Amino acid sequence: MKRRKITIIGAGNVGGTAAQRLVEKELAEELVLLDINKDVAIGKALDLAESAPIYGYDTQIRGTDNYADSEGSDLVIITSGVPRKPGMSRDDLLSTNAKIVKTVAQQVAVHSPEAVIIVVSNPLDAMTYVTYKTTQFPRERIIGMAGVLDSARMATFIAQELRVSAETVRAIVMGGHGDGMIPLPRYTTVSGVSVTELIPKNRLDAIVQRTRDGGAEIVKLLKTGSAYYAPSAAIVEMVESIVKDKKKILPCAALCKGEYGVQNLFVGVPAKLGHGGIEAIVEFELTSEETAGLRKSADGVKELCADVDRMIG
Ligand code: NAI
Ligand code: 2OP
Repeated sequence: MKRRKITIIGAGNVGGTAAQRLVEKELAEELVLLDINKDVAIGKALDLAESAPIYGYDTQIRGTDNYADSEGSDLVIITSGVPRKPGMSRDDLLSTNAKIVKTVAQQVAVHSPEAVIIVVSNPLDAMTYVTYKTTQFPRERIIGMAGVLDSARMATFIAQELRVSAETVRAIVMGGHGDGMIPLPRYTTVSGVSVTELIPKNRLDAIVQRTRDGGAEIVKLLKTGSAYYAPSAAIVEMVESIVKDKKKILPCAALCKGEYGVQNLFVGVPAKLGHGGIEAIVEFELTSEETAGLRKSADGVKELCADVDRMIG
């Protein structure tokens, strides 16, 4: 039987932490940690391997800067690129990260032509587009991670507001991973009860805004980079749904072809994740205000993608 092989490209904060979470859950038989900084990739892989006797996992972990080592991966996670510094927006990373992600995606297409790819680098929706455009993989196999993270942030703030277990909160955030993201309180529940029934509107509005600013809040505190604990947890939830074929419905950046009225753009929508990657985009009713927000967010993504086309052809 083929061994399940996962490659993480970018062994920085997000890539390294995702690697740790993946091996601790034994989601792969083989894990490759690839970075242009070869020593960091090898060092983190070795450090993780040396934790195995204590934690009790048997994943084969290899650090490298050579794509030949990633050959035939079933799943590839792209985290390579620069993170934000205080005062920067995710969009400020566009030109640097577009070039990095294009180079990386070219190699993934050559060495792992059957892989499902999860893109993490920012600005997320545009980098997912760069990956799609470069690899020309089918849309089912190119997925952007952002909605799970943004929804987790919203769920955390709700759990703190109500002083309830975070596990009982189910939040959903759609749209692009930027200031125009669409947290949806109407579809956010605590043990099945809509939060619109539990939290007054002014407090909910504040939670929605804090969710939109969630990434910047962490950047401002860390000063030298952006969040990675919650982002890596979000990546691993998506990976688990794919490798175990759990078919969880999770908000992901997916290429919409008419869903929610969005044409040929990657934006955050609820998607069913299984062995095939995105197995369906789930459509549900939005109010006219929510729809307008989603279209506006999609317009922002469209502009970034046009910039990408000008930059990298
Ligand atoms: P980091 O700086 O800690 O790690 C980035 C790594 O990428 C570095 O180790 C660097 O050497 C590597 N790298 C750069 N160019 C490369 C190339 N051509 N090939 C291979 N590796 C290369 O950054 P961090 O915190 O891990 O963030 C990574 C990216 O993920 C950033 O763009 C960040 O904005 C984004 N991000 C996105 C999130 C989301 O929700 N989609 C959440 C958190 C971070
Ligand atoms: C975040 O939201 C940096 O996009 C990343 O934390």
